[in-house]
Amino acid sequence: SLPKQVKIVEVGPRDGLQNEKETISAEVKIELVDRLTKAGFVNIEAASFVSPKWVPQMATSTEVMAGIQRKAGVIYSALTPNMKGFEAALAAGADEVVIFSSASEAFAQKNINCSIAESIERFRDVAAAAKQHRIRLRGSISCAFGCPYQGEVTPEQVADVVKLMRDLGCDEIDIADTIGVGTPRHVQAVMQRVAQEFPIAQISGHFHDTYGQALANIYASMEVGVSIFHSSVAGLGGCPYAKGATGNVATEDVLFMMQGLGVDTCIDLNQVVDAGQFISQHLGRKAVSRAGNAIAAK
Ligand code: HMG
Ligand code: MG
Repeated sequence: SLPKQVKIVEVGPRDGLQNEKETISAEVKIELVDRLTKAGFVNIEAASFVSPKWVPQMATSTEVMAGIQRKAGVIYSALTPNMKGFEAALAAGADEVVIFSSASEAFAQKNINCSIAESIERFRDVAAAAKQHRIRLRGSISCAFGCPYQGEVTPEQVADVVKLMRDLGCDEIDIADTIGVGTPRHVQAVMQRVAQEFPIAQISGHFHDTYGQALANIYASMEVGVSIFHSSVAGLGGCPYAKGATGNVATEDVLFMMQGLGVDTCIDLNQVVDAGQFISQHLGRKAVSRAGNAIAAK
């Protein structure tokens, strides 16, 4: 059976935009976040306090966090790879900080320039500081279903990183298909394995649609009890360290499916479609959401 309600975490302003070559002004990012807030999301990934040499597009994160109109109860999240990032996120008033590693050793090296074990050591201070300041802590695990550099990733390898992040005190852990190669049965096997280590109610599915499997994988995840999913308005995204990776699954497509299934999200699809058209026009291209474009064309 499917959950009655799911939480959709909108990651477009961060995961979606981080890879854009042309600099997007803070004003446009702020308007995007504000539109998403109005649409009803309870959790928006709005910023990333990483090295601007590594991800230049996210250099405006402080301005974005300062400019958005916050709604009470909405969690505005920010990526924080180290204490420098944490201090910036704290000053910016992030409600949740995200530490991120990988189920693949090779990907960790490319993305955060250290081994998985070293990343966990680095996160120890961030995790302790988050607890001290009562900021929610989320852990994200990239390449949980396959890696562009090392190929196969086993459910056991994912579970190992879940245990490490659980022990750091994460409130939520993302199982991310960075390159979009997961298929439904594989996804269920991984979700069921990690659920042995961490409560399934606090596990989220972060799917990319590179191979067209994202909606099927979300459905398969719901069948085994996952009820938190990440998606990106207009299908924005890609990862700078995963060549050829397309965007996260489009939020509009996810919402359309949830509506049809009678699974509650508390989000207004039409407003998300408008937000998707807004940012796509700004980027000078068509939104990468089938449902979004179909609704916009009506
Ligand atoms: P490093 O070069 O090994 O670290 O980078 P470092 O400590 O030697 O620092 C290098 C320079 O960066 C120094 O500046 C630092 O001050 C600065 P310099 O002295 O050369 O002028 N620096 C910072 N500046 C601002 N904020 C910071 C910060 N930290 C250092 N927080 C590091 C290591 C982790 C910093 C780097 O590798 C990095 O920033 N990586 C981030 C990569 C990234 O953001 N990737 C995308 C996010 S992950 C993702 O998208 C996947 C996910 O969405 C799931 C999915 O889609 O599957 C989560
Ligand atoms: Mg992603």
